Amino acid sequence: MNTANKMSVKDIDVAGKKVLVRCDFNVPLKEGVITNDKRIVAALPTIKYLKENGAKVILCSHLGRPKGEWLPEFSLAPVAKRLSELLECEVRMSKDVIGEDAKDISATIKEGEVALLENVRYYKEETKNVPEFAKELASLAEIFVNDAFGTAHRAHASTTGVADYIPAVCGFLIQKEIDVMGKALDNPVRPFVAVLGGAKVSDKIGVITNLLEKVDTLIVGGAMAYTFLKAEGHNVGISLCEEDKLELACELLAKAKEKGVSLLLPVDHIAADKFDENAEPVAVEGKDIPDGLMGMDIGPKSVELFKEAVKNAKTVIWNGPMGVFEFKNFAGGTFAVAEAIAETDCISIIGGGDSVAAVTKLGFADKMTHISTGGGASLEFLEGLELPGIAALNEK
Ligand code: 3PG
Repeated sequence: MNTANKMSVKDIDVAGKKVLVRCDFNVPLKEGVITNDKRIVAALPTIKYLKENGAKVILCSHLGRPKGEWLPEFSLAPVAKRLSELLECEVRMSKDVIGEDAKDISATIKEGEVALLENVRYYKEETKNVPEFAKELASLAEIFVNDAFGTAHRAHASTTGVADYIPAVCGFLIQKEIDVMGKALDNPVRPFVAVLGGAKVSDKIGVITNLLEKVDTLIVGGAMAYTFLKAEGHNVGISLCEEDKLELACELLAKAKEKGVSLLLPVDHIAADKFDENAEPVAVEGKDIPDGLMGMDIGPKSVELFKEAVKNAKTVIWNGPMGVFEFKNFAGGTFAVAEAIAETDCISIIGGGDSVAAVTKLGFADKMTHISTGGGASLEFLEGLELPGIAALNEK
């Protein structure tokens, strides 16, 4: 999937037009304060372009999953405030999405002004993609711009439904995300190494299957590695392991062999006797984890093995941490892999909420080529699936 055949904001005349822009302002909040504004910052190029080109900019987004309830903690008001700081202009905030307030904004907004509608998920019709709701939303504007990459895997009223009623084009963020990741997948500079981690094989089956067709090396860390190790006949102690996925893990190992992909698993571990932040780390030499212990991170020999593979790569895609990086005693493997990717002169693409959080927390964000704003969306993209929010856009 790519955006080359899709119309973008640059392909239409936006001057004097009311433009509805779907953003992904689903940002983390703590007591009403935004703790990470990366998704807002990532939306700025499209908003600024529209503003500078005389459009009347009406932004919309979801925040969290209020499931049709008007819960104040899911209000987009803090986003409007942050946006007006970043844009250095007033951002009018609508109390509703298709009600009187939104209609008033649509009727009175001037060229170059920016407004933000309330949380689209305050309406049940949004996630159900109810046509009447999508039509009402679309009636606020003349053009629809989808720039919500993080929500492009959802076929909701504000991501796909509105495209049935007004011309729909993509914004710069969606374009950048798809172009960088699409190029890496379709035409990678080799050697191409994928680093996958996280808790469950079942969450990543599609990604592993798709990547085995494309990469030269596949590194598997995190808890999902224990399912692969058990499938190879190793003891994994009390580690997280998906017994019902052992057969699948065997098939994936066989597929890697058949495709000539070097699939690297941890060769040693940092373990503990319980899943606890203060658990005593135990170094486990070799692939087998003794009874009564659970793997919590990759060990030093695995770090060296994975670093060596990353060092020689020209393209690296990373999705999922190598261990329980939230616990400081078990963050070493994730830190070392992040550092190795940051130090390598390669195209580095970080996707998925946890690996992005790890890279950011560990201070390597600026050293990566591309940090995706999508969690589920980037995972589905890596699986090779069509994203409905992009499929719905007008062709050139
Ligand atoms: C995300 O945070 O991954 C996106 O904003 C999508 O949110 P959702 O999983 O609630 O649809």
